[in-house]
Amino acid sequence: MQDVLERLREEALAQIQAVRTLDDLEAARVAYLGRHGALKESMRQIGKLAPEERRAAGMAANEVKAAIVNGLEARRQLIERVAAQLTLPTEDLTLPGLHPPLGGEHPLRRAEADLREVFARLGFEVVEGPEVELEYYNFEALNIPADHASRDSFDTFYVGGDVLLRSHTSPVQVRVMEQRQPPIRVVVPGRVYRPDTADATHSPVFHQIEGLVVGEGVTFADLKAVLTMAMRELFGPKTETRFRPSFFPFTEPSAEVDVSYEAGGKRRWLELLGAGMVHPRVFEAVGYDPEQYTGFAFGMGIDRVAMLRYGIPDIRLLLENDLRFLEQL
Ligand code: DAH
Repeated sequence: MQDVLERLREEALAQIQAVRTLDDLEAARVAYLGRHGALKESMRQIGKLAPEERRAAGMAANEVKAAIVNGLEARRQLIERVAAQLTLPTEDLTLPGLHPPLGGEHPLRRAEADLREVFARLGFEVVEGPEVELEYYNFEALNIPADHASRDSFDTFYVGGDVLLRSHTSPVQVRVMEQRQPPIRVVVPGRVYRPDTADATHSPVFHQIEGLVVGEGVTFADLKAVLTMAMRELFGPKTETRFRPSFFPFTEPSAEVDVSYEAGGKRRWLELLGAGMVHPRVFEAVGYDPEQYTGFAFGMGIDRVAMLRYGIPDIRLLLENDLRFLEQL
C-alpha cells in the first residue's frame, strides 16, 4: 500500500509541474483529490486493510494528500504570477508622449492683442463698434461730403439704402463722442471692408485700429509723442517715426505716419498709419464745442503690423487658413 501511495505522490506532483493553465490545474486537482479521484480510491483500499496496517497507511495517505495540496497551491501561484507578467504593458514607457495638435493664436489676433496692450499701457481704453454701419457714421459725421469718391459703390460695400459695411474704424470715433464727454482716450480695433481686388497688399476684408484722444489743450505734439512711443513699444526701441503732411476730411492738419525699421542692414520706411487733429466739423457733429476741446485721431492697419512684425510678404496668407503657413509663426 505504501508503494502505491508513493507512486501516486510522484505521479501527481510530476503532472502538476507540467500544468500551464489554471483550468488544467483544476482538472489535476479533480483527478487526484476529487470525489472519484485517485486518492479517494486509495483511501477505499485502505479501508479494506487489516486493522493493524490501516493506521500507518492512513497516515501515509494524509501525507500524500498534503503534498498534492501544497503542490497545487505552489503551481497556482506560479501560473498567476506569469499571467500577470504577460499582461504588463508592452509599450515602451520611456518613449516621449504624443502631442495632440493644440492650435495657436492667429498672427492677426496676436498683432491685435499686442496693439491693445501697448495702447492700454499708454492709458487707452479699448472699445468696439458695429461692422454693419450707417452711411451717416461712416461718412457724413466724419466730414466726408456726399460727392466724395470713397462714397461710391465701387469703394464701399452697400448692404442697402444707407446701410453699409464700414470702410474704416473711424465711425466709432463719432459713436463714442456721441455717448460721452471729454476727456476721451480710446482705441477701436476691428474689421473693415472695401471692394478691393485681392493682391499682395489688398484684401476686401482687413483690420484697423483707430485711436481717439479728446480733451482740453491736446496738441499735435501729444499725437507725435503717443504714436512714436507706441511704435517703439511695438517694433523696438530703435524704431523711428516720420510724419508727412497729408489730407483726411475728418482731421486738420493731417499726416501720414511712416515707421522705419531695419531690414537686411538697411533702414526702410513703411507707411503705417493716418493721423491728425480732429476736424472742428466732427466735433460739431457730436455737439462738442471746438473752441473748448481739441483732440487727435489715428488709424492703422493691423494686417500691416502683423506682416511687418512676422515678415509676411502677402496679406492673403493671413486669411487663407493654410496651416503650412500658420504653423511657421
Ligand atoms: N480712416 C482712415 C482710413 O481708413 C485712416 C485714418 C486716418 C484714421 C487719419 C484716422 C485719422 O483716425 O486721423 O484710411
